[in-house]
Amino acid sequence: MSLQPFVKWAGGKRQIMDKLLEFKPKKYKHYYEPFVGGGALLLELAPIHATINDSNKELIYVYKCLRNKRLFKKFYELCKQHEENHSEEYYYQIRDLDRKKTVYTKMTMPEKAARCVYLNKACFNGLYRVSGKGYFNVPSGKKEKVKCFDEENIQALHKYFNKRKPVLLNKDFAEAVKTAKAGDFVYFDPPYDVVGEQSFTSYTAGGFGRDEQTRLRDVIKELTNKGVLVMASNANTPFIQEIYKDFNIHVINAKRMINSKGDGRGDVEEVIITNY
Ligand SMILES: C[S@@+](CC[C@H](N)C(=O)[O-])C[C@H]1O[C@@H](n2cnc3c(N)ncnc32)[C@H](O)[C@@H]1O
Repeated sequence: MSLQPFVKWAGGKRQIMDKLLEFKPKKYKHYYEPFVGGGALLLELAPIHATINDSNKELIYVYKCLRNKRLFKKFYELCKQHEENHSEEYYYQIRDLDRKKTVYTKMTMPEKAARCVYLNKACFNGLYRVSGKGYFNVPSGKKEKVKCFDEENIQALHKYFNKRKPVLLNKDFAEAVKTAKAGDFVYFDPPYDVVGEQSFTSYTAGGFGRDEQTRLRDVIKELTNKGVLVMASNANTPFIQEIYKDFNIHVINAKRMINSKGDGRGDVEEVIITNY
């Protein structure tokens, strides 16, 4: 059975999957995905040796629960409990747990992971958004019933992660690829460059501004010098075209389902950058 992402994640790659598969290298050793999110490409490739990373701690807790039998059992039971207890009021109770610091810090890893998946499924539009203080602040999706996962898929995911035991990291992307060697493959799917009002500042709402895009390009240059195969996705903007002018840039059409504002649905141009 093919593996599917267990969360709806901003920047999910399902719409451009055929292109990613077309442009990925034919052969590679270890697979790295430093901005894993929902992990659409990881799950499509289901590599034997992998290192995956995301700066989102709660998301990495879910991957850890999928990898370990004991944690998975707990996580599974807790998700079922959330499904049973779901109501408008319950959603806000669970959502606001991170506002009570003493309660939140005492929560176990499966508790935090199940909360993350439940909120993703019950909230408005599957967004993950935190306030300046780091509190999850997406309103309820006003759903009558919430299903945390598809039964067959979650079991298949558990089987894959438990068998292959990928390395799971919660670091900055540059740190996460430090061990990559010649012949390994790194796929970077960062928060995209934004055109518009933020173009002249270094920061975007997501904290990944042009300084960060340039820092990522520099990491890709270092990996290129080491003989690591690199593929990266981004928005097709003049800025991205400029900073990657020494690489191969493939322009593609994508149907975006969610963006940071929840609008702007439709076709947009994206790029797939490769160093091979
Ligand atoms: C565009 S999403 C990846 C989507 C993913 N490919 C998918 O299929 O769902 C970008 C991810 O990068 C993470 N991120 C943002 N800044 C980061 C950083 N400096 N280092 C590592 N991860 C970061 C975010 O938490 C988010 O999950």
